[in-house]
Amino acid sequence: MKQYLKMDEWNIIEEGFDEDNNEVSEGIFSIGNGYMGQRANFEEIYSGKSLKGNYMAGVYYPDKTRVGWWKNGYPEYFAKVLNSTNWIGIDISIDGEILDLAKCEVKDFVRTLNMKEGYLSRSFVAKLPSGKQVKVDAKRFVSITLKEIGAIKYSITPVNFEGELSILSYLDGDVKNEDSNYDEKFWDEVSKQCDEDGSSLIIKTKKLDFHVCSAMKLDIVKDGKKVDYNHVFIKAEKYVGNSVTLTVKQNEEIVMYKYVCNVTSRDYEIEELLEVCNKNLEKACLKGFETLLKDQAHAWGEKWKQSDIVIEGDVSAQQAIRFNIFQLNQTYTGEDDRLNIGPKGFTGEKYGGGTYWDTEAYCIPFYLSTADTSISRNLLIYRYKQLGKAKENARKLGFTKGALYPMVTMNGEECHNEWEITFEEIHRNGAIAHGIYNYVNYTGDKSYLGQYGLEVLVEISRFWEERVSFAPSKGKYVMLGVTGPNEYENNSNNNWYTNRIACWTLEYTSKVIDYLKNNEDQRYLELAQILGLKEEEISKWQDIIKNMYYPVDAELGIFLQQDGYMDKEQILVKDLDPKHLPLNQKWSWDRILRSCFIKQADVLQGLYFLQDEYDLDTIRRNFEFYEPRTVHESSLSPCVHSILASKLGNQEKAYEMYLRTARLDLDNYNDDTKDGCHITSMAGSWMSIVEGFGGMRVEDGKLILNPFIPEKWGSFSFKIMFRGNLLKVNIKKHKVIITSENKKLITLSVNGKDYTTENEIEVLS
Ligand code: BGC
Repeated sequence: MKQYLKMDEWNIIEEGFDEDNNEVSEGIFSIGNGYMGQRANFEEIYSGKSLKGNYMAGVYYPDKTRVGWWKNGYPEYFAKVLNSTNWIGIDISIDGEILDLAKCEVKDFVRTLNMKEGYLSRSFVAKLPSGKQVKVDAKRFVSITLKEIGAIKYSITPVNFEGELSILSYLDGDVKNEDSNYDEKFWDEVSKQCDEDGSSLIIKTKKLDFHVCSAMKLDIVKDGKKVDYNHVFIKAEKYVGNSVTLTVKQNEEIVMYKYVCNVTSRDYEIEELLEVCNKNLEKACLKGFETLLKDQAHAWGEKWKQSDIVIEGDVSAQQAIRFNIFQLNQTYTGEDDRLNIGPKGFTGEKYGGGTYWDTEAYCIPFYLSTADTSISRNLLIYRYKQLGKAKENARKLGFTKGALYPMVTMNGEECHNEWEITFEEIHRNGAIAHGIYNYVNYTGDKSYLGQYGLEVLVEISRFWEERVSFAPSKGKYVMLGVTGPNEYENNSNNNWYTNRIACWTLEYTSKVIDYLKNNEDQRYLELAQILGLKEEEISKWQDIIKNMYYPVDAELGIFLQQDGYMDKEQILVKDLDPKHLPLNQKWSWDRILRSCFIKQADVLQGLYFLQDEYDLDTIRRNFEFYEPRTVHESSLSPCVHSILASKLGNQEKAYEMYLRTARLDLDNYNDDTKDGCHITSMAGSWMSIVEGFGGMRVEDGKLILNPFIPEKWGSFSFKIMFRGNLLKVNIKKHKVIITSENKKLITLSVNGKDYTTENEIEVLS
């Protein structure tokens, strides 16, 4: 573990320039606004190691699949969110010498991500090979009030010379994805303009016809006054640039303001892109950088009011949780139900920006509690809209009915192409059903069930019905050839979690049917007709529920991860020589598959989802068995263990597991942050605090808290939105204070006792 960032409660700060860390920092210091985002690449040329990344949410490319051995049923393509027009570029040269930090002596380098106000800044003094020194201060952000706008303030001061300063501000669409399967470039130029009337560029994807239009404007200010300058207009393939040369004196600061607007054909007709883009750019320029930044700070302030977690007595933990919340809010803002949350958000290319079960299993709880209900509802509607494709996917795999949602997707079509995951990791269907339950249970919005929920639930249930088979030797239903959440076991029979989440879906769907029959009978009849729902299939589901086979070890009193798990040599992670870890880098796949080691929560994932169905002893026995065998080689894993440890009163373990996710990227724990940050597991850090340490649950419409405070912390507080109430829950050493910030009446349970208030409750503990 490397710690190179400075501890600070509201900022991520890197002091000193370390070329070897640059790609890691580019990931960590990424900025985004749900609509677009980018890695923290430098504005000026940089010839050192760098992963360039500018992403427009939802603009993707169906890159042709590359696999060693083709299998029927594989998807034809792997969709990836595209590296799009580089709009931050401001190249600098001094008397013909290029400013490139890889070739300069760099002093006083500070890079800061201001999470309170939502901007990135960087300052340094660079000594060029000629000995000339310049001081640079750069600040930029992507606006959350004008989502199509990005703005940069770039100041440069000659420290020890006077001479000619050349500035080249550009838009460059000639970019590529590093993860391109066949090293292809994905963009074609459509048109460009670069003259006195403006500079803009329209590019489109070679497939699917996504158009991205960018327009830019550069203002230069000296002594507080805008300078009229003579510029040279440069045009090249997929590129426009404005070049300016100024004579500058020693210690004279030149300030550049670059405003950019990016619009796409996802939101506008292709013919209107340029006009809208120029118009919106003009609006932003009229406001000016400082006003835009003020609006940005205000808007982020509003977000923090609903989502902040304050930890006293542990700056490292404070910084980490704010970073996690900040990145989640940068990644998804929930206004557009065609968008979702890629595991790397806007911070890198890995995982292609696609949607995984991570959304339902990890992210929905975060957005449910920290944002307006419509936001998590939109995440559900995203899946609803893709139901047709999920049905097609099931047919493609040979099922006669039902829907199988993809393991990873952009538009509903499966993009994953490893057979053991694409075809076998079907538990994802259960998480999607559970996401609906979670939403309705938390918000109380039962109207969702009749409007959208039931259709998804019935089709998923139909899939499970066909996917199980009846084993006469057992007189039970079984589920063969699956991969559970623990991807270190493939093609296993009767993965307990998958069997359980399948039956749970059948149970929940049946309950929703009863609810609609009793409460929305007209809508139910309509839906039954649309779905062709028959009583026989509902009875069949009851039969499966009653007669499902679950592997157990009666002696140990635990659920078995899958048939035959106990036949494996039982070794604990603590007894492994640490040089073998991480297993996925040190061991052959064959060795991993034969071992008892578990990549991520599996049985425990089920016990977390369905914790109200199991008593504490059952959870404890399973936790004590599985935790020592789990290597947590998915970032999604420790949070589930942390929450269960909290529930079991194992505070030390809960805290240890929390630490593993919270600073995963800030400390580059797995040495992979250069690929981008683990955005979806950041929701897990939030869950570890709120659901784990805070013990927050919702049962029968009532908010329940069973909090404890980690020993190292003086106190902590979190904000949650619950059914119109904005609550602040403040947990101190010997008391819990709950404040209704919007003064709405609420009854909730703290440590097993009910309290009603519209102001503040103080509970001694
Ligand atoms: C995990 C999956 C997860 C995916 C994306 C994998 O390493 O095993 O559960 O969905 O990463 O985060």
